[in-house]
Amino acid sequence: GKPAITCMLPVKNAAARKITTIEGVAQGSVLHRVQQAFVEEGAMQCGYCTSGFLISAAALIERTRMPSDAEIRDALDGNLCRCGVYLRCIRAVRRACEAMK
Ligand code: FES
Repeated sequence: GKPAITCMLPVKNAAARKITTIEGVAQGSVLHRVQQAFVEEGAMQCGYCTSGFLISAAALIERTRMPSDAEIRDALDGNLCRCGVYLRCIRAVRRACEAMK
């Protein structure tokens, strides 16, 4: 239930834990609200960083339905985007929250 930066997590620390990857947040062919918002905001360029941003955002929305911009930035912190779509990611999280009101 907590996002983890997998390149920093030894596999042994994940043993016997339930792991949700980005493929697991959608309901079949129906995208998770935050995935849909990323599409609508164009919050990706090459897509290399997108999984990390989405997992972080989905975890944030699970615990805080209407996060402040500071909470969104904190939740996404640590995800690096070489293409520089940070502002679009933040807008996408805000859009997902608004859609879930
Ligand atoms: Fe390319 Fe983020 S979209 S690294």
